[in-house]
Parts: sequence; structure tokens; C-alpha cells
Amino acid sequence: MDKLVSLAKRRGFVFQSSEIYGGLGSVWDYGPLGAELKRNLKERWWRAMVHEREDIEGLDAAILMHPKVWEASGHVAGFTDPLVDCRQCKNRFRADDPRLKGPPGDPETKCPVCGNKGTLTAPRMFNLMFKTFMGPVEEDAAVIYLRPETAQGIYVNYLNVLQSSRQKVPFGIAQIGKAFRNEITPGNFTFRTREFEQMEMQFFVKPGADQQWFEFWKAERMKWYQGLGIRAEKLRFHQHGPDELAHYAKDAYDIQYEFPFGWQEFEGIHNRTDFDLTRHQEYSGKKLEYVDASANERYIPYIIETSAGADRAALVLLVDAYREEQVEGETRVVLKLHPSLAPLKAAVFPLVNKDGMPELARRIYDDLRGRFNVFYDDGGSIGRRYRRQDEAGTPFGVTVDGQSTQDQTVTVRDRDTLLQERVAAGRVDEYLSARLTA
Ligand code: GAP
Repeated sequence: MDKLVSLAKRRGFVFQSSEIYGGLGSVWDYGPLGAELKRNLKERWWRAMVHEREDIEGLDAAILMHPKVWEASGHVAGFTDPLVDCRQCKNRFRADDPRLKGPPGDPETKCPVCGNKGTLTAPRMFNLMFKTFMGPVEEDAAVIYLRPETAQGIYVNYLNVLQSSRQKVPFGIAQIGKAFRNEITPGNFTFRTREFEQMEMQFFVKPGADQQWFEFWKAERMKWYQGLGIRAEKLRFHQHGPDELAHYAKDAYDIQYEFPFGWQEFEGIHNRTDFDLTRHQEYSGKKLEYVDASANERYIPYIIETSAGADRAALVLLVDAYREEQVEGETRVVLKLHPSLAPLKAAVFPLVNKDGMPELARRIYDDLRGRFNVFYDDGGSIGRRYRRQDEAGTPFGVTVDGQSTQDQTVTVRDRDTLLQERVAAGRVDEYLSARLTA
């Protein structure tokens, strides 16, 4: 993991937030390559969930919502972790932190940071939602929350979307957006952060059809990740036991990845029953029933949720793609990212900076730039330039060499096989299009 974290910083995938001020705990920024990777991931998700399906609509709801939303959802009362404070050094820990040796509150238990005995409080419940104030006066009436999940923005808009899009149950609403949780755990890089992005889809179904749709979405989501090139043996389902189920869920499966720090969830598929819409109906006083005129029925739909973390899924992509290989007696570090997710699709190199090679390379680069995110590099030996692109996960290297200026052909190097093919300079665009969509 340390090697990946170091590569992520060195190559501009991920930086610590506010680094020049010493950083902000469990908050991260994406650099040029990371921003492209995450954007490609979100675009593929949107395409699969919204554009390719006629029964799912997109939504972009606000982060700030009416405070009653979080009472109805159960987050004000129940979105809590048991935490322990050290009265001496003021650090705060989860009550189940493995560094705590002995029961918190006991006079013999030591604080894992300052080492003092008996300074830890008994566990207290701590709400994970970030509070802020709306309007000019910091008074209780104006307290609002940064949303801890995007799902609620979908539930409160379910009737608006249903009516404006003329969908019929079963149908879904998908959204990508920021969520915030005041997590009190050591981070594991971008795995658990305080600000993160979710890609959530809520599928509204007739009660009784929920199990069938739950199975459908479980299979679909696993297939989607495999289609991104993630190794199948590193993926598995984990069904929640009765003690793990969230307050709203009848059944839940995590999709887990085998990280260097163990098997961990990065997407959840939940059968949320009619819990959310029933609660919002109760708290808002607005009828949220679905009226099926043709069957002369009305009911509160059940909801099957697919809830993925964009940052966590991006971390899965990076961890899964990271390889160290022996090539001609040297170790090459390569990110074997799926070409559709790779931040840069190709890099263009003049073999040397003379004899017409830079001019031709520039021309090819300028042609490609309109269609693909490509990079021009004329610095250092060609071997070093290839290695830099291997680390960035760039699937193709286009090299203009001595022969190119004679016969207008270039070599295209494949990141994974290391094979080089000669391609007509005027057809590199066509060649890349075919390889990138294959
Ligand atoms: N709407 C349901 C919901 O939010 P969740 O299991 O709490 O369910 C869903 O979160 C996904 O959101 C997780 O699988 C994970 O990918 C992501 N996620 C949750 N908390 C996170 C955090 N603190 N940092 C990064 N990603 C997080």
C-alpha cells in the first residue's frame, strides 16, 4: 500500500488536502491524473446506469437539505458511533479501536496516544453528521447538516421525477454527488474519508417484486466491476448478518475487494423496503404513494439501492491495476488500468529532438488532442519516457522515429504486452479508437 500511496502522490493522482498547512485528517485532493481517473469512472457508471437504461433517470440534488429529512431518515437519532475521549491529550477514538487495551473508562486502561492511565472516558454516542448553520444567525433553528448519503435527495424527489419523466414502477433514479461523514478512524489512504463521493441508484419496485430486483441488481453490479477489468478473484459478496444490517434494510450485500489491508466493502446493495418513503410521508405530511391506474392499485414502493463510493472504487482500480514486473532485468511499475478508465489514452514521443521528428510528433499530438486525452513528452531517454507512462497507466505510446520521417509511419507500443506495431501516422487516431473501444 505504501508504494501505491507514494506513486499516487508522485504522479499526481492523489494529494493530501491542505498539505502545505500539515494536511487535514482523512480528506484528500485528486491531482491531474486522479481527477481524470475518477471522472472516467463516474462517466462509465452514469452511462451504464442512466444512458443505457430506459427505466432509470438521473438527478443532481443539493447537498444541503431540510433538517427534517435527517430526522425522517433516522440519521439524527441513529447515525452514531460509540467514541471515547482522552481527558489528558484530547484525542478521540472509536470504542472498538484495536489500539485500546482494556475497557475505556477503566482506571487501568492506557490512552494509546499519550500513554496516561485512567484518562479515557466511558464510550459516548457521537453523531457522524457534519453540522453547519444556514442564514446569518448561529442559532439552533438554523442548524442544518451536510448530507451523509446522497440517497435522501432521491427519496424526497421521487414524485417530482416520476411525474416529470412519466416513468412507471419499476423504475430508478441515479445520482452522483458528495457526501460527508465525521469519521473517527485511521484512514487507509482514501478508503475512509470525511468528504467523499457516492454513485447511488434507488430502484422503486412493487412490494413483493423486491427480492427478484434485489437479485438482479446484485448480479448486474458485480458484472459491471468485472467489466472494468478488476480481477474476479479479488471480488466477492458479503451478506450482512442481523447485527450488521442498517436500520432501514431487510437484506444487504456488500461488494468487497481484497485490499492489502483485507477484504473491505466498496459498494452496498440494499433492500430498503418501504422504510424511507413511509418515513418521509409521515414526517412531511405529503402522500408518497404510487398510483397504478391500470391495476387500480396504490402502494408505497419498495426500494432496492445500489450504493457505491466513487473514491473507494477509484482506490480499488488503483490497487488492482498496480503491478511490478521484471522486464530485461529491471523492475517496471505499471498501472494496468482498463483503457476506458486510464487518465491518459496515449503519449506521443519524438525519439530524438531533431531530423523532423518533433514536428511530426507535434502534428500527431495536435490531431489526437481533439478526441483523446493525450500527452506529449520529449524529455529524457525513450526508456524513461515509457516508464513514466507505465506508471500513469497510459495504454499506448506513439513514437516518431527515424523511419517515420521517411515513410510516415510510427510505432505504437502496447503498455501491457510491450509489443510495438508500425502504424501509418495519418491513421493513429483510427487505430487508437479501435483499440480503446475493444
Ligand atoms: N445510502 C446507503 C449508504 O450510504 P453506506 O454503506 O454507508 O450506504 C455506501 O455507503 C458506500 O459509500 C460504501 O460502500 C463506500 O464505498 C462509500 N463510503 C461510505 N462511507 C465512506 C467514507 N467514509 N469514505 C469513503 N467512502 C465511503
